[in-house]
Amino acid sequence: MQLDHVPFQLRPARAEDFWAVARLFEALHHFNAGLDRRFRLDADWERLLQQHFTLTHTAPGSLWLLAWCADAPVGLLLVEAHSDSPIFAERRWAELVALYVAPEQRGGPLAHQLVEQAKQWAAAKGFDRLQLYVTAHNERAKRFYTKCGLGPTQEIWRVDLKPTPGVDLPADPSTTAEQPRRQRPELGHHQLAMELSNEPEDQL
Ligand SMILES: CC(C)(COP(=O)(O)OP(=O)(O)OC[C@H]1O[C@@H](n2cnc3c(N)ncnc32)[C@H](O)[C@@H]1OP(=O)(O)O)[C@@H](O)C(=O)NCCC(=O)NCCS
Repeated sequence: MQLDHVPFQLRPARAEDFWAVARLFEALHHFNAGLDRRFRLDADWERLLQQHFTLTHTAPGSLWLLAWCADAPVGLLLVEAHSDSPIFAERRWAELVALYVAPEQRGGPLAHQLVEQAKQWAAAKGFDRLQLYVTAHNERAKRFYTKCGLGPTQEIWRVDLKPTPGVDLPADPSTTAEQPRRQRPELGHHQLAMELSNEPEDQL
């Protein structure tokens, strides 16, 4: 049965729309954490997201798109230019970092339009692919992405361990290596609001 969906409008997120970005981002991650608790947001997530949003929402390498039904935000898309380590010959792609559609708009055209915007933006910027991570148990999203022409190329596998008590986790060596930050291989996987070392800018 085709449901009637309230009409929506797409527009790039503006500085004053951060509240809407945050609301939908939180809903997305609440949903993901329901599938896998290891994807819970940190207590400080909103400040970090705001910092990242402020730095990037008008940058040429990112697309923050919101869908609105009148004054209500009902969809969020974030796509970013991604650079992997220079160790790899093909290290640049467009990454679909976040996609969320409010429950009342699911099953309609909104999600598809958002992914089409992501593809068009990425191709226009010169990228030859759009990539994303999806939780293995998110059957609806996987079915949806398949309908959009995406398919799996790599999987993340995991085994749970018993950690040694009282041990501080070592730092990621890519963020602490004794070489200028500029010369370090960049980090793969999610780079949204990544933590960088505390070196003063003039040492970079
Ligand atoms: C993922 C999302 C953007 C897709 O948008 P949508 O409007 O729900 O997508 P559609 O309805 O067009 O497509 C979903 C498909 O999955 C099917 N589906 C629904 N529940 C399913 C399930 N449990 N198992 C398998 N398929 C399922 C639907 O029937 C539909 O397929 P069909 O068109 O062949 O019938 C939206 O559901 C959403 O925001 N989900 C929560 C956040 C999320 O998962 N984001 C993606 C994180 S990577």
